[in-house]
Amino acid sequence: MNPYQTFLQFTIETARAAGQVIRQGAQNGFDARQKGVRDFVTDVDLAAERTIIQAIRDQFPTHDILSEETPPEQRNSRYQWIIDPLDGTGNFVHHFPHFATSIALAYDDRPIAGVVYDPIQERLFAAAVGAGATLNGQTLRVSSNQDWLNTQIGMDWSRDEQIRPQIVRVIGELAVHSGSIRCSGSAALGICYVAAGWWDAYFHLQLSAWDAAAGAVIVREAGGVVTDTAGQPWRPGTGAVIASNGALHEQFCGHVNRGRKKAFTR
Ligand code: IPD
Ligand code: CA
Ligand code: CA
Repeated sequence: MNPYQTFLQFTIETARAAGQVIRQGAQNGFDARQKGVRDFVTDVDLAAERTIIQAIRDQFPTHDILSEETPPEQRNSRYQWIIDPLDGTGNFVHHFPHFATSIALAYDDRPIAGVVYDPIQERLFAAAVGAGATLNGQTLRVSSNQDWLNTQIGMDWSRDEQIRPQIVRVIGELAVHSGSIRCSGSAALGICYVAAGWWDAYFHLQLSAWDAAAGAVIVREAGGVVTDTAGQPWRPGTGAVIASNGALHEQFCGHVNRGRKKAFTR
C-alpha cells in the first residue's frame, strides 16, 4: 500500500466536509468583508477553515498547520498541513460558481499529498506521491501537446500593483506564441486543469503556499512539472508557479521570463 494512503483518504474526507460547508454557504448566503486591496474574506472561508483545522487537530494533533485565514500553528513537526479553505473567494463573492477548497500535506517542506475539491461541479482532484493523480477516482494524465500554436494556457492575476504589469507583458508574449490564454479566478483549480490535460500549462507570478501546494502534487503525479520561473522545483514559499505538461516546460519558462522583462509603459 502507498505509505501516504491514510493521509490521502483523510484529506479527501476533510475536503468533502469543507466543500459541503462552502456549497451551503453559496446556497444560503454569506457575509463578506474586504481584508485587503482586491481581497475579500467571507464567513464561509472561515467556517470551511474551522471544519478543516478541527479535523486535523482531532486526527493529527502534533502536526504543524499553515492556513490562509489563521495564524500558523507551529509544533516543530516535520509534517505541515497547508490549507486554502476557499480558493476563488473573488468568484464566490460575485456568485460565479467556480471555487474550491485546497488541502495539502507537506513533509520536510515537500508536498506529499493534496486534494482540490470543487463543490459545485463536484470535482475532486487528489494525489499522493507515488500513488498517481485522480479526478473523482479516475486516473489523470497531463497532455502530450507540443504544438505551441494549439496550446491552452491558464493563468491568474496577482493583486500586487508591481506584478500586474509583468503579467500583462507575459500575456503579450504568450498571445504571439500560444493557442489561447484562460483565466479562471481559482489558482488551485487552474493548476489542476494542467494535471487533467485540459490546459497544457499554467502560470502565476505570485502565489502563496496554500494556493499551489495541493495542485503541485496533483500535477506532478499526473506526469507534469511544477517549478519557479528559473525552472527550480516549486516548494511552499516559492512565489511564482509555472506548471506544465513537461514537454513545453523549458520553452514556457522562457516565454514567461522574456515577457516579464520586456519594457512596459503605463
Ligand atoms: C486567489 C485565487 C486567484 C489568484 C489569487 C489568489 P483566494 O486566492 O487563487 O485565482 O489569482 O492570486 O490569491 O484569495 O481566492 O484564496
Ligand atoms: Ca487562494
Ligand atoms: Ca482563500
